[in-house]
Amino acid sequence: MTDEAAWVNPLRQPEDKRLPRIAGPSGMVIFGVTGDLARRKLLPAIYDLANRGLLPAGFSLVGFGRREWTKTDFEDYVRSAVEKGSRTRFNENVWNRLAEGMHFVTGAFDDDEAFEKLAALLAEMDANRGTGGNWAFYLSVPPEYFSDVVHQLDRCGMATPTGNQWRRVVIEKPFGHDLASAKKLNEVVNHVFPERSVFRIDHYLGKETVQNILALRFANQMFEPVWNANYIDHVQITMAEDIGLGGRAGYYDGIGAARDVIQNHLIQLLALVAMEEPTSFSPRRLRAEKLKVLRATTPLEPFDETTARGQYTSGWQGSEKVIGLREEEGFDPDSTTETYAACTLTINSRRWAGVPFYLRTGKRLGRRVTEIALVFKRPPFQPFAKGQTDLLTANAVVLRIQPDEGVLMRFGSKVPGSTMEVRDVNMDFSYSEAFTEESPEAYERLILDALLDESSLFPTNEEVERSWEILDPILEHWAENGRPDAYAAGTWGPESADAMLARTGRHWRRP
Ligand code: BG6
Repeated sequence: MTDEAAWVNPLRQPEDKRLPRIAGPSGMVIFGVTGDLARRKLLPAIYDLANRGLLPAGFSLVGFGRREWTKTDFEDYVRSAVEKGSRTRFNENVWNRLAEGMHFVTGAFDDDEAFEKLAALLAEMDANRGTGGNWAFYLSVPPEYFSDVVHQLDRCGMATPTGNQWRRVVIEKPFGHDLASAKKLNEVVNHVFPERSVFRIDHYLGKETVQNILALRFANQMFEPVWNANYIDHVQITMAEDIGLGGRAGYYDGIGAARDVIQNHLIQLLALVAMEEPTSFSPRRLRAEKLKVLRATTPLEPFDETTARGQYTSGWQGSEKVIGLREEEGFDPDSTTETYAACTLTINSRRWAGVPFYLRTGKRLGRRVTEIALVFKRPPFQPFAKGQTDLLTANAVVLRIQPDEGVLMRFGSKVPGSTMEVRDVNMDFSYSEAFTEESPEAYERLILDALLDESSLFPTNEEVERSWEILDPILEHWAENGRPDAYAAGTWGPESADAMLARTGRHWRRP
């Protein structure tokens, strides 16, 4: 290198010279700010955005809740959440600037006066802090409160922007518990906020590796030609967790694994893996392709054979002895809520006809892993002698969403030696080895997108409703047919899940 000064280390170059995306004048009001999600994810993400310089100088954060908190109490609460959960180093200056714009309004969702106070506070901040009348209202509350909150926002004039202002609503899942309730919720929300101002969060879409599905498929030439029923035998989408449900009974009992994870995260992953190429990644085009493939997706029957569900009992998680669901505090010992769910979906399209998509998720499984495995058909002819390929299974492309983010390809290779013996080998791409940049937290990305009005990564009302339509028949079948099967904590789910695949001559990957 002759000209040192002109040389730029490509590994250190900032995001290919694009200007960072910085939110314009705005603020956020969080309902449910004392909840688990806000404490663990939302507040640290907001601080990290501020610390990375991606929020405007006058950004303001308002908490709304029943506690009798002063501004200082709220600041202390946010600070402790940030110190615990943020990914960037704590910076006193950034914190002080952010804390100046923090306020807390005490009230219940049916308290008219509290909402009037909130409206006055927002107007005051628009005047003093330059938030410009641009507010995002984050509903981190159970769906039964959506209606009260959006009506109050409407009643007090907070849902309606004037001039160039904007008002948006960001909504957490669960978005209903079946198609009918999701439709009702959509009506309630859309009655007040136009669809383009509604941002439904599915935090999986904020994950870097999930967005990489689009890069892998559409920025490369080598995958798409084989990404179809001619070559692929089946697809397995797995989201396994090792944690149990201690402390979450209030939310989880009566919801279960299928509603909590399959209806949203896993069906969204399916849509990204299976959709046709969009002509661009604009919100309209991307969501149109996702919706198209979801419209072609149906659950495969008979459900006794194509689905499985389970409930964890006590067992060993590594070296720790853990209790079963029914012993967890807050769970009804007779609860039929499933902590493991698996189902078979098919896609009625030329690309995917006859290829089963197996979706599974569970708590207290062998380890935490989310992955999508595309398992290939065997070659139509193999010119090998008997025994030479006994150790060869099917080729696979595995998109590892978390942890150990990356892509793995499994194929056959000759074992070194004088005889012809072929067995599986893995070629493994790992994000952490290939890139020096750390991936941003999903919530950072999504909160920033909502402030920037970039809606590509947010499912539309139609996608949410369609996902319920796919799942509802399975849920109805389960509701009418007894209890979930038992599985010991630390295993890979109930025997019925293994039987479900064995029946088709396939087996689950052990990730
Ligand atoms: C949430 C579910 O949406 O996702 C939780 O409600 C689950 O039950 C969580 O634990 C998992 O998220 P992640 O990002 O840790 O895979």
